[in-house]
Amino acid sequence: MTEPGTKRDGGEPPLASAPHARPWNELRLTPREAAEAAALASWCAREYEDAEDPEFLAEASVIAHELPKRLRRFIARSRLEERPHALVVRGNLVDDELLGPTPAHWRDALTTGSRPFSFLLVLYAGLLGDVFGWATQQDGRVVTDVLPIRGGEHSLVSSSSRQELGWHTEDAFSPHRADYVGLFSLRNPDRVATTLAGAPLGELDERTVDVLFQDRFLIRPDDSHLPVNNSTAQRGSGEFEEIARAVERPDPVPILTGHRAAPRLRIDGDFSAPADDDEEAAAALKVLRELIDAELYDVVLHAGDVAFIDNHRSVHGRRAFQPRYDGGDRWLKRINVTRDLHRSREVRSGGDSRVLGRR
Ligand SMILES: [Fe+2]
Repeated sequence: MTEPGTKRDGGEPPLASAPHARPWNELRLTPREAAEAAALASWCAREYEDAEDPEFLAEASVIAHELPKRLRRFIARSRLEERPHALVVRGNLVDDELLGPTPAHWRDALTTGSRPFSFLLVLYAGLLGDVFGWATQQDGRVVTDVLPIRGGEHSLVSSSSRQELGWHTEDAFSPHRADYVGLFSLRNPDRVATTLAGAPLGELDERTVDVLFQDRFLIRPDDSHLPVNNSTAQRGSGEFEEIARAVERPDPVPILTGHRAAPRLRIDGDFSAPADDDEEAAAALKVLRELIDAELYDVVLHAGDVAFIDNHRSVHGRRAFQPRYDGGDRWLKRINVTRDLHRSREVRSGGDSRVLGRR
C-alpha cells in the first residue's frame, strides 16, 4: 500500500531528510511553494484591511488550507511531537526593495511593505492554533515587530541590540503565555543569531528535578509589559495594574511541569527568583541557569525564514549586535499562538477578542 499522501502528490519533495539531526524541525520551501504561499498572502492583503482585522483572524485557519500541502503536513506532524524546540520554515520570498526600510520604531511598522508578511505569519500560525496579543505589549497588537530602537540598546526587551537578549520562556509569568512564539525574519544582514535551549534534563540530579517541579519560584513580568514600553495614549488603564500586581506579589510556581520524561519548562533568566528565603530552591535555580547557559545554541533566521518556537520545550533569546539605524536593521514580525484561545477567556473582554488583559 502506498503511504498516504505520497501517491496523490506525485513529485512533491520529501519532508526534512534527517528529521532528528537537529533539536528543531526544519522545512525548506521550494521556489514554487514559496511563490504559492506569497500569492495567498498577497490575496489576503488585498481582501482585508490589515492582519489584525477580526474577520481575517476568524478566517485565517480556513484560508491556510490553501497553503502548500507539504508545508501543512510538516506543521501538522511536528505539532504532535514533543521533541523539537522549534519548527522552522525556510525559503519564503522577501523582496528587500518592496519591503522598504526597517522603521525606527515598532509604532511605524504597520504601513510599511511588511504588510503581506503579517498576513502570511497569521496564516502559518493558523496551522498551529489561535493567535493573540497582550493589551500591555506594543499597544495590544496581535502581530508585533522586533527591531532595534535607538536609546534601548541595553534594555531587557526585544528592541535591545548591543546587549544580548537573555534566554526566556515568552511571558513566563503568565498562565496564559503562548504555546508557540512565531517569528518571521524579514531582514537580518548581519546574521544575528536567535538563541535556543531545551530543558537540560540529562544533567540534573533527581532532587534538583523534584525541587524544580514544586511551587517554589517567583516569575515576574518582563519589561515589555511596562507602560514605558507602550504608547502614552494607552497607559493608565487597568491592564497595567494587573502587571504591577504580578511584579509586586507574584504567586509561587513550579519551573517544570508535566511528565518527568518530557517536562514543560517555564523560566525567564532575568525575571525568575526563588521564593523568599528558600535556599534549596535558590540552589536548584542556580544549577538550572548554569546548565541552560551552557546548552544555549544559535539559530540564524535569514530573510524569509519563519520559526515557531515551542514555548514549553525551549527558552529563546538573541545574541548582541551592533544596530545600524539606517533603515537596514534586523527586523522580524512576531506572533503569539495558543492551541486553545478559550483557555484565556478570564482575561479577555469577549469570546472573540484576541487581546489578553483588556477586560
Ligand atoms: Fe521572546
